[in-house]
Amino acid sequence: MGSGPGAELGEFMRGDGVEPSLIELLLSVAAAADRIEALVRRATLAHLVGVTGATNVQGEAVHKLDEAANRILVDAVRASGRVAILVSEEMAEPLPLGGGPFALYIDPVDGSSNADVNGSLGSIFSIHAAVPAGLPPAGRAQRGSGYVMYGPGTSLMVTWGRGLHEFALDPDARRFVLARPDLRLPPSGRTYAVNSGRRAYWTAGVRAFVDDLTADDGKRGRPYSLRYSGSLTADLHRILLEGGVYCYPGDAKAADGKLRLLYEASPLAFLAEQGGGRASSGRAPILDIIPRTIHQRVPLYIGSVAEVELAEAYVRQEGAR
Ligand code: AHG
Ligand code: MN
Ligand code: MN
Repeated sequence: MGSGPGAELGEFMRGDGVEPSLIELLLSVAAAADRIEALVRRATLAHLVGVTGATNVQGEAVHKLDEAANRILVDAVRASGRVAILVSEEMAEPLPLGGGPFALYIDPVDGSSNADVNGSLGSIFSIHAAVPAGLPPAGRAQRGSGYVMYGPGTSLMVTWGRGLHEFALDPDARRFVLARPDLRLPPSGRTYAVNSGRRAYWTAGVRAFVDDLTADDGKRGRPYSLRYSGSLTADLHRILLEGGVYCYPGDAKAADGKLRLLYEASPLAFLAEQGGGRASSGRAPILDIIPRTIHQRVPLYIGSVAEVELAEAYVRQEGAR
Protein backbone atom coordinates (compact mmCIF):
# COMPACT_ATOMS: atom_id res chain seq x y z
CA MET A 1 0.00 0.00 0.00
CA GLY A 2 2.82 2.42 0.95
CA SER A 3 4.37 2.72 -2.50
CA GLY A 4 1.73 1.75 -5.09
CA PRO A 5 -1.18 3.74 -6.54
CA GLY A 6 -3.39 4.95 -3.69
CA ALA A 7 -0.42 5.65 -1.39
CA GLU A 8 -0.63 8.95 0.42
CA LEU A 9 2.10 11.52 -0.40
CA GLY A 10 3.95 11.45 2.94
CA GLU A 11 3.75 7.68 3.15
CA PHE A 12 5.17 7.32 -0.37
CA MET A 13 8.05 9.72 0.33
CA ARG A 14 8.94 7.89 3.54
CA GLY A 15 8.90 4.60 1.65
CA ASP A 16 11.26 6.12 -0.93
CA GLY A 17 13.75 7.16 1.76
CA VAL A 18 13.31 10.93 1.33
CA GLU A 19 14.98 12.90 4.14
CA PRO A 20 12.51 13.94 6.87
CA SER A 21 13.04 17.71 6.54
CA LEU A 22 12.30 17.56 2.80
CA ILE A 23 9.19 15.46 3.46
CA GLU A 24 7.99 18.06 5.98
CA LEU A 25 8.54 20.89 3.51
CA LEU A 26 6.77 19.07 0.67
CA LEU A 27 3.86 18.25 2.97
CA SER A 28 3.54 21.90 3.96
CA VAL A 29 3.47 22.91 0.29
CA ALA A 30 0.85 20.22 -0.38
CA ALA A 31 -1.23 21.46 2.57
CA ALA A 32 -1.06 25.00 1.16
CA ALA A 33 -2.08 23.70 -2.27
CA ASP A 34 -5.07 21.97 -0.68
CA ARG A 35 -6.17 25.34 0.78
CA ILE A 36 -5.51 27.16 -2.51
CA GLU A 37 -7.57 24.53 -4.32
CA ALA A 38 -10.49 25.24 -1.99
CA LEU A 39 -10.18 28.95 -2.79
CA VAL A 40 -9.93 28.32 -6.53
CA ARG A 41 -13.10 26.20 -6.40
CA ARG A 42 -14.96 29.08 -4.73
CA ALA A 43 -13.23 31.95 -6.54
CA THR A 44 -16.30 33.14 -8.42
CA LEU A 45 -18.58 32.79 -5.39
CA ALA A 46 -16.15 34.46 -3.00
CA HIS A 47 -15.48 37.45 -5.27
CA LEU A 48 -11.89 36.34 -5.76
CA VAL A 49 -11.85 36.97 -9.51
CA GLY A 50 -10.33 40.12 -10.96
CA VAL A 51 -7.31 42.21 -10.03
CA THR A 52 -6.33 43.99 -6.83
CA GLY A 53 -5.26 47.16 -8.64
CA ALA A 54 -1.59 46.61 -7.71
CA THR A 55 1.22 45.61 -10.07
CA ASN A 56 3.93 43.17 -9.06
CA VAL A 57 7.69 43.42 -9.55
CA GLN A 58 7.22 42.08 -13.10
CA GLY A 59 4.95 45.03 -13.94
CA GLU A 60 1.98 42.64 -14.21
CA ALA A 61 -1.45 43.15 -12.66
CA VAL A 62 -1.84 41.27 -9.38
CA HIS A 63 -4.98 39.13 -9.31
CA LYS A 64 -6.84 38.68 -6.04
CA LEU A 65 -6.03 34.98 -6.16
CA ASP A 66 -2.29 35.72 -6.59
CA GLU A 67 -2.30 37.66 -3.36
CA ALA A 68 -4.41 35.14 -1.41
CA ALA A 69 -2.38 32.13 -2.61
CA ASN A 70 0.91 33.85 -1.86
CA ARG A 71 -0.22 34.48 1.71
CA ILE A 72 -1.32 30.86 2.16
CA LEU A 73 2.01 29.52 0.89
CA VAL A 74 4.11 31.95 2.94
CA ASP A 75 2.22 31.05 6.13
CA ALA A 76 2.40 27.30 5.48
CA VAL A 77 6.11 27.13 4.74
CA ARG A 78 6.95 29.52 7.58
CA ALA A 79 5.10 27.19 9.96
CA SER A 80 7.03 24.20 8.60
CA GLY A 81 10.28 25.70 9.94
CA ARG A 82 12.15 24.16 7.01
CA VAL A 83 12.71 27.23 4.81
CA ALA A 84 15.41 29.81 5.40
CA ILE A 85 14.53 32.01 2.44
CA LEU A 86 11.49 32.29 0.19
CA VAL A 87 11.37 33.87 -3.27
CA SER A 88 7.95 34.47 -4.84
CA GLU A 89 6.72 35.93 -8.09
CA GLU A 90 4.52 38.14 -5.93
CA MET A 91 7.31 39.57 -3.73
CA ALA A 92 10.00 41.92 -5.06
CA GLU A 93 12.63 40.77 -2.56
CA PRO A 94 13.49 37.39 -1.00
CA LEU A 95 11.72 36.84 2.32
CA PRO A 96 13.90 35.48 5.16
CA LEU A 97 11.88 32.99 7.20
CA GLY A 98 14.19 32.52 10.14
CA GLY A 99 16.03 29.33 9.35
CA GLY A 100 15.81 25.83 7.93
CA PRO A 101 17.81 23.84 5.42
CA PHE A 102 16.01 24.95 2.24
CA ALA A 103 15.35 27.86 -0.11
CA LEU A 104 11.94 27.83 -1.79
CA TYR A 105 10.93 29.50 -5.07
CA ILE A 106 7.22 29.84 -5.86
CA ASP A 107 4.76 30.95 -8.48
CA PRO A 108 1.67 30.94 -6.20
CA VAL A 109 -0.84 31.08 -9.06
CA ASP A 110 0.25 30.30 -12.58
CA GLY A 111 -2.02 31.45 -15.39
CA SER A 112 -3.89 33.83 -13.10
CA SER A 113 -5.86 35.50 -15.93
CA ASN A 114 -7.66 32.14 -16.24
CA ALA A 115 -9.22 32.81 -12.81
CA ASP A 116 -11.58 35.32 -14.42
CA VAL A 117 -12.97 32.73 -16.84
CA ASN A 118 -13.09 29.54 -14.75
CA GLY A 119 -10.04 28.15 -16.56
CA SER A 120 -7.30 25.87 -15.25
CA LEU A 121 -4.71 27.32 -12.87
CA GLY A 122 -1.57 26.09 -11.15
CA SER A 123 1.01 26.62 -8.43
CA ILE A 124 4.72 25.95 -9.13
CA PHE A 125 7.57 25.41 -6.66
CA SER A 126 11.30 24.76 -6.64
CA ILE A 127 13.42 23.65 -3.68
CA HIS A 128 17.14 24.29 -3.30
CA ALA A 129 19.50 24.01 -0.37
CA ALA A 130 19.39 27.34 1.50
CA VAL A 131 21.51 30.07 -0.09
CA PRO A 132 22.48 33.32 1.68
CA ALA A 133 21.20 35.96 -0.77
CA GLY A 134 18.41 33.85 -2.22
CA LEU A 135 20.19 33.26 -5.54
CA PRO A 136 20.60 29.50 -6.08
CA PRO A 137 23.07 27.61 -8.29
CA ALA A 138 21.95 26.12 -11.63
CA GLY A 139 18.64 24.24 -11.60
CA ARG A 140 20.33 20.83 -11.73
CA ALA A 141 21.07 21.31 -8.01
CA GLN A 142 17.37 21.42 -7.11
CA ARG A 143 16.42 19.17 -4.23
CA GLY A 144 12.86 18.91 -5.45
CA SER A 145 10.25 20.63 -7.57
CA GLY A 146 6.68 20.34 -8.66
CA TYR A 147 3.44 21.93 -9.65
CA VAL A 148 -0.17 21.59 -8.66
CA MET A 149 -2.70 21.87 -11.46
CA TYR A 150 -6.19 22.98 -10.47
CA GLY A 151 -8.30 21.64 -13.35
CA PRO A 152 -11.44 19.50 -13.36
CA GLY A 153 -9.38 17.51 -10.85
CA THR A 154 -6.30 18.62 -8.92
CA SER A 155 -2.97 16.98 -9.72
CA LEU A 156 0.39 17.30 -8.04
CA MET A 157 3.36 16.51 -10.28
CA VAL A 158 6.43 16.19 -8.13
CA THR A 159 10.03 15.03 -8.07
CA TRP A 160 12.75 14.85 -5.43
CA GLY A 161 15.30 13.69 -7.99
CA ARG A 162 14.20 10.06 -8.24
CA GLY A 163 11.61 10.04 -11.00
CA LEU A 164 8.44 11.93 -11.79
CA HIS A 165 5.25 11.13 -9.89
CA GLU A 166 1.66 12.29 -10.18
CA PHE A 167 -0.55 12.53 -7.10
CA ALA A 168 -4.25 13.42 -7.26
CA LEU A 169 -6.11 15.34 -4.58
CA ASP A 170 -8.92 13.19 -3.20
CA PRO A 171 -11.63 15.87 -2.92
CA ASP A 172 -13.40 14.12 -0.02
CA ALA A 173 -10.49 12.88 2.09
CA ARG A 174 -8.46 16.05 1.22
CA ARG A 175 -5.32 13.98 0.70
CA PHE A 176 -2.91 13.75 -2.21
CA VAL A 177 -2.80 10.10 -3.27
CA LEU A 178 -0.47 8.46 -5.75
CA ALA A 179 -2.07 8.26 -9.18
CA ARG A 180 0.83 7.55 -11.56
CA PRO A 181 4.30 6.70 -10.21
CA ASP A 182 7.47 6.92 -12.33
CA LEU A 183 5.93 8.68 -15.31
CA ARG A 184 7.93 8.68 -18.55
CA LEU A 185 7.26 11.23 -21.28
CA PRO A 186 6.72 9.80 -24.75
CA PRO A 187 9.85 10.48 -26.87
CA SER A 188 7.71 12.59 -29.23
CA GLY A 189 4.12 13.73 -29.45
CA ARG A 190 1.43 15.20 -31.67
CA THR A 191 0.70 18.55 -30.02
CA TYR A 192 2.47 21.86 -29.47
CA ALA A 193 1.63 24.83 -27.27
CA VAL A 194 2.66 28.41 -28.09
CA ASN A 195 1.00 31.84 -28.14
CA SER A 196 0.70 32.23 -31.92
CA GLY A 197 -0.76 35.70 -31.37
CA ARG A 198 2.86 36.85 -31.03
CA ARG A 199 3.88 35.47 -34.44
CA ALA A 200 4.54 39.00 -35.77
CA TYR A 201 7.34 39.33 -33.17
CA TRP A 202 8.87 35.87 -33.65
CA THR A 203 12.39 35.36 -34.96
CA ALA A 204 12.93 33.51 -38.24
CA GLY A 205 14.02 30.39 -36.32
CA VAL A 206 10.85 30.20 -34.23
CA ARG A 207 8.68 30.72 -37.32
CA ALA A 208 10.55 27.98 -39.18
CA PHE A 209 10.17 25.62 -36.20
CA VAL A 210 6.40 26.15 -35.95
CA ASP A 211 6.09 25.90 -39.75
CA ASP A 212 7.89 22.55 -39.56
CA LEU A 213 5.48 21.24 -36.86
CA THR A 214 2.46 22.37 -38.85
CA ALA A 215 3.59 21.24 -42.32
CA ASP A 216 1.22 18.99 -44.31
CA ASP A 217 3.45 15.93 -44.01
CA GLY A 218 1.65 12.84 -42.73
CA LYS A 219 4.79 10.75 -43.08
CA ARG A 220 6.45 12.78 -40.32
CA GLY A 221 3.29 12.86 -38.19
CA ARG A 222 2.41 16.41 -39.22
CA PRO A 223 0.57 18.70 -38.81
CA TYR A 224 0.76 18.79 -35.02
CA SER A 225 -2.33 20.01 -33.16
CA LEU A 226 -2.18 23.28 -31.25
CA ARG A 227 -3.29 23.22 -27.59
CA TYR A 228 -2.83 26.47 -25.63
CA SER A 229 -4.84 27.39 -22.55
CA GLY A 230 -3.03 30.41 -21.07
CA SER A 231 -1.85 28.32 -18.12
CA LEU A 232 1.59 26.82 -18.47
CA THR A 233 0.88 24.17 -15.84
CA ALA A 234 -2.23 22.93 -17.66
CA ASP A 235 -0.50 23.00 -21.05
CA LEU A 236 2.56 21.22 -19.70
CA HIS A 237 0.42 18.61 -17.95
CA ARG A 238 -0.86 17.41 -21.33
CA ILE A 239 2.66 17.35 -22.70
CA LEU A 240 4.18 15.43 -19.77
CA LEU A 241 1.44 12.80 -20.20
CA GLU A 242 1.10 12.67 -23.98
CA GLY A 243 4.31 14.18 -25.39
CA GLY A 244 4.91 17.22 -27.58
CA VAL A 245 6.31 20.64 -26.78
CA TYR A 246 5.41 23.85 -24.93
CA CYS A 247 7.21 26.98 -26.14
CA TYR A 248 7.50 30.51 -24.81
CA PRO A 249 10.21 31.88 -27.08
CA GLY A 250 12.17 35.09 -26.89
CA ASP A 251 10.89 37.52 -29.53
CA ALA A 252 11.31 41.04 -30.88
CA LYS A 253 9.32 42.56 -27.99
CA ALA A 254 10.69 40.36 -25.21
CA ALA A 255 14.16 38.96 -25.92
CA ASP A 256 13.97 36.51 -22.99
CA GLY A 257 10.29 35.69 -23.38
CA LYS A 258 7.95 35.92 -20.42
CA LEU A 259 8.55 33.02 -18.09
CA ARG A 260 10.77 33.27 -15.04
CA LEU A 261 13.77 30.98 -14.58
CA LEU A 262 13.64 30.26 -10.85
CA TYR A 263 9.96 29.55 -10.21
CA GLU A 264 8.64 28.56 -13.64
CA ALA A 265 11.23 27.23 -16.11
CA SER A 266 13.64 25.57 -13.71
CA PRO A 267 11.19 23.53 -11.58
CA LEU A 268 9.30 22.41 -14.68
CA ALA A 269 12.57 21.51 -16.42
CA PHE A 270 13.52 19.33 -13.44
CA LEU A 271 10.18 17.52 -13.69
CA ALA A 272 10.52 17.03 -17.45
CA GLU A 273 14.08 15.68 -17.21
CA GLN A 274 13.11 13.34 -14.39
CA GLY A 275 10.49 11.91 -16.75
CA GLY A 276 13.00 11.49 -19.57
CA GLY A 277 12.02 14.71 -21.36
CA ARG A 278 14.00 17.83 -22.10
CA ALA A 279 13.86 21.58 -21.40
CA SER A 280 15.92 24.23 -23.14
CA SER A 281 16.23 27.95 -23.68
CA GLY A 282 16.96 27.01 -27.30
CA ARG A 283 20.64 27.60 -26.59
CA ALA A 284 21.26 25.71 -23.35
CA PRO A 285 19.53 23.18 -21.11
CA ILE A 286 17.43 25.16 -18.62
CA LEU A 287 18.97 23.19 -15.75
CA ASP A 288 22.49 24.39 -16.69
CA ILE A 289 21.69 28.11 -16.59
CA ILE A 290 23.29 29.94 -13.68
CA PRO A 291 20.82 32.55 -12.42
CA ARG A 292 21.89 36.19 -12.19
CA THR A 293 18.78 37.71 -10.60
CA ILE A 294 15.83 36.20 -8.75
CA HIS A 295 13.13 37.30 -11.19
CA GLN A 296 15.03 36.80 -14.45
CA ARG A 297 13.17 35.54 -17.51
CA VAL A 298 14.24 32.86 -19.94
CA PRO A 299 12.93 31.51 -23.26
CA LEU A 300 11.46 28.03 -22.73
CA TYR A 301 11.04 24.95 -24.94
CA ILE A 302 9.95 21.97 -22.84
CA GLY A 303 8.55 18.52 -23.45
CA SER A 304 9.53 15.46 -25.45
CA VAL A 305 13.15 15.05 -26.49
CA ALA A 306 12.39 14.98 -30.25
CA GLU A 307 10.51 18.29 -30.39
CA VAL A 308 12.79 20.15 -27.97
CA GLU A 309 15.88 19.07 -29.94
CA LEU A 310 14.21 20.22 -33.14
CA ALA A 311 13.46 23.62 -31.57
CA GLU A 312 17.10 23.89 -30.48
CA ALA A 313 18.29 23.13 -34.01
CA TYR A 314 16.13 25.94 -35.44
CA VAL A 315 17.09 28.45 -32.75
CA ARG A 316 20.79 27.60 -33.12
CA GLN A 317 20.59 28.31 -36.87
CA GLU A 318 19.94 31.93 -35.94
CA GLY A 319 23.54 32.12 -34.72
CA ALA A 320 25.02 33.04 -31.37
CA ARG A 321 23.56 36.03 -29.58
P1 AHG B 1 1.56 33.98 -14.37
O1 AHG B 1 0.07 33.97 -14.29
O2 AHG B 1 2.21 33.28 -13.21
O3 AHG B 1 2.15 35.35 -14.60
O4 AHG B 1 2.03 33.08 -15.59
C1 AHG B 1 1.34 33.16 -16.80
C2 AHG B 1 2.17 32.51 -17.86
C3 AHG B 1 1.84 31.06 -18.17
O5 AHG B 1 1.05 30.39 -17.29
C4 AHG B 1 1.21 31.10 -19.51
O6 AHG B 1 1.55 30.01 -20.30
C5 AHG B 1 1.70 32.37 -20.09
O7 AHG B 1 1.96 33.23 -19.02
C6 AHG B 1 0.68 32.98 -20.99
O8 AHG B 1 1.18 34.16 -21.50
P2 AHG B 1 0.63 34.78 -22.85
O9 AHG B 1 -0.73 35.31 -22.53
O10 AHG B 1 1.62 35.85 -23.22
O11 AHG B 1 0.60 33.65 -23.86
MN1 MN C 1 3.33 31.67 -13.96
MN1 MN D 1 1.85 33.64 -11.09
